[in-house]
Amino acid sequence: MKHYDPVASFGPEVAARYDDHLRGDEEAAAEFLAALAQGRRALEFAIGTGRIALPLAARGVHVDGIELSPHMVERLRAKPGGDRINVTVGDMSVATTGQHYGLVYLVYNTIFNLITAEDQIRCFENAARHLAADGCFVVETALPHAWIAPGASDYVHAEHVGTDVVVLDVARYDPVTQLLEENHIRLTADGIALAPIVCRLITPGEMDLMARIAGMRLVNRFANWQRSVFDAQSSAHVSVYALDATR
Ligand SMILES: C[S@@+](CC[C@H](N)C(=O)[O-])C[C@H]1O[C@@H](n2cnc3c(N)ncnc32)[C@H](O)[C@@H]1O
Repeated sequence: MKHYDPVASFGPEVAARYDDHLRGDEEAAAEFLAALAQGRRALEFAIGTGRIALPLAARGVHVDGIELSPHMVERLRAKPGGDRINVTVGDMSVATTGQHYGLVYLVYNTIFNLITAEDQIRCFENAARHLAADGCFVVETALPHAWIAPGASDYVHAEHVGTDVVVLDVARYDPVTQLLEENHIRLTADGIALAPIVCRLITPGEMDLMARIAGMRLVNRFANWQRSVFDAQSSAHVSVYALDATR
């Protein structure tokens, strides 16, 4: 997608509407993450508006964040408790808080927002750099084949159909680059608004290799936050990595 700017994907308009339709997994994710944190400090890569960080903080976990979009951070700041979360504005593949954590986590398919394999590897390396010796890194994404059917090169989804607004999700996938070029098109009587985003879809196996390159290893993989078994029917995964003590 020519002239694509990842920061613009979460600009002021998207940030303002981000929490209008929550995903619904917030409490389950916070429960899962709090159990792993075991009272230790946590760092969320791509913290956004604090959709997960705030319920996690409400469970007594100290949460810091790294986030690319200042507009998303502004929304987080405006929420109750948002001012208690320290956010470093920057790219999660390189930015640092200069601290170590018992838990680093990256949810909601956001590893896909890094659109080269190199940047995705750098993100795993950056997570490893922020981990305490016994800490863990949690990554949650959909499986590529559940997002776009094998062999399909494009799709149009009716994301929201209302009397005064329709939102279409239009995407094209290139299996060579693994890039999904997507645009969320919002149609209202006032006009058309476009919200482009590019994702690089990777499988759990690729993530495991990226983790190994970063000096980590897979310790657990579930199908969801409820810890269902990950199997051939799974459409998503929650993967837990730890530093590889043998390296
Ligand atoms: C789908 S939202 C997820 C936000 C939050 N984690 C949640 O679960 O609601 C993706 C977020 O990733 C941020 N983001 C995208 N690329 C990033 C990068 N390279 N470094 C840090 N944040 C990034 C976006 O600005 C946006 O806030």
